[in-house]
Amino acid sequence: MKVAVAGLGYVGLSVAALLARHHDVVGVDVVPSKVEIVNAGRSPIQDSELDQALSSGALSLRATCDSADGYADADWIVIAAPTNYDTTTNFFDTSAVEAVVEAARAVNQGATIVIKSTVPVGYTARLREQLGDRNILFSPEFLREGKALYDNLHPSRIVVGCDAEDAAQKAKADEFAALLAEGAEDEDVPTLVMGSTEAEAVKLFANTYLALRVSYFNELDTYAASKGLDARKVIEGVCLDPRVGSHYNNPSFGYGGYCLPKDTKQLLANYEDVPQSLVGAIVEANRVRKNFVADEVMDRVMRIVFEEGRAPLVGVYRLTMKSGSDNFRASSIQGIMRRLQEHRVPMLVFEPTFDGGSYFGHEVTHDLDELKNRCDVIVANRWNGELADVQDKVYTRDLFGRD
Ligand SMILES: NC(=O)c1ccc[n+]([C@@H]2O[C@H](COP(=O)([O-])OP(=O)(O)OC[C@H]3O[C@@H](n4cnc5c(N)ncnc54)[C@H](O)[C@@H]3O)[C@@H](O)[C@H]2O)c1
Repeated sequence: MKVAVAGLGYVGLSVAALLARHHDVVGVDVVPSKVEIVNAGRSPIQDSELDQALSSGALSLRATCDSADGYADADWIVIAAPTNYDTTTNFFDTSAVEAVVEAARAVNQGATIVIKSTVPVGYTARLREQLGDRNILFSPEFLREGKALYDNLHPSRIVVGCDAEDAAQKAKADEFAALLAEGAEDEDVPTLVMGSTEAEAVKLFANTYLALRVSYFNELDTYAASKGLDARKVIEGVCLDPRVGSHYNNPSFGYGGYCLPKDTKQLLANYEDVPQSLVGAIVEANRVRKNFVADEVMDRVMRIVFEEGRAPLVGVYRLTMKSGSDNFRASSIQGIMRRLQEHRVPMLVFEPTFDGGSYFGHEVTHDLDELKNRCDVIVANRWNGELADVQDKVYTRDLFGRD
């Protein structure tokens, strides 16, 4: 089977590597440096399993910037282009997905297109209708950044959406589900084939549930911190109920990363005239949490201003969302920085993976000792043992030392 994958980011590269275990895969990307890195047998993103797979020489995978070369003789064209949230339209910007469909159909009318990008509920059915093209499926992706290939090799589930009324499309959806299952290392992966609109809803409702859970424990922590309770003890007591579970319950500065903030907003936009209060509250809860965290940091800042008559320097320990992450997309600490910036608080950022000298006007250092020595307060979304000697300066809500 010949497969083309459009977009060599977290989703595209991991799906390409998964399928290239058994099939010929061409990755297509608009960024030449990504293509060069993949063709050199390395991963442009930080992911140990991907690095290992790409350098092993065991995959049938090449990359190109030339869309005609990539798409022309593919049987399957998988789209993993970005769908950023557009704050003016209050909807995902799906133009990159549409650009791929157009480029693909210009050279290949027979391939089955599978959208892996996260899209609004109802998008794939509308696109099929608009283009008069039945051969477009949607398959949500559930991977975590940093474990992108691992999560494809060991998927929690495989979901493929099609026009469920159309037997030929249903057969294609079964076939694509089988391709994903064939690449996985686990046997008997739960597999669901459904309507594409339902599959789109699965993705947005799954991520909104995760955002809800983060917000719930964050709001519990806000209460505990405000009332002088030991939040850790309360969370442990709550989570020992097996219906709640002791996972994914560590307070933070808010949910963040590329997906949860945009996917919750997109789901809220999809509700339009459908009654709801919870989904809107999940979006709003993140703003409220960041305000609370920024206010707590400002209390520390103002204490120094009043007691010592000087403006303290606030240190930002890492811009990343999670400890193992290699990007800062929509990380919650940036929301805290924006709020502190409104109060003109001077900041020094410690981020070893950022090479520019300043980040949104704030000085960046790669020297942890400089952060420790120069800063009076250090904000850290996630605790790290390397901060232990300056623990008194650190403001974090990380209670369990994990993501
Ligand atoms: N990152 C995640 O954890 C994750 C998880 C599940 C779903 N998703 C969804 O998958 C999609 C992709 O996310 P990602 O994190 O892999 O994004 P990414 O930014 O890491 O990668 C997207 C890639 O697409 C390329 N691209 C842009 N326009 C293109 C075009 N016209 N043709 C070919 N390539 C093009 C970009 O250069 C980039 O390399 C998004 O819709 C996202 O919401 C992401």
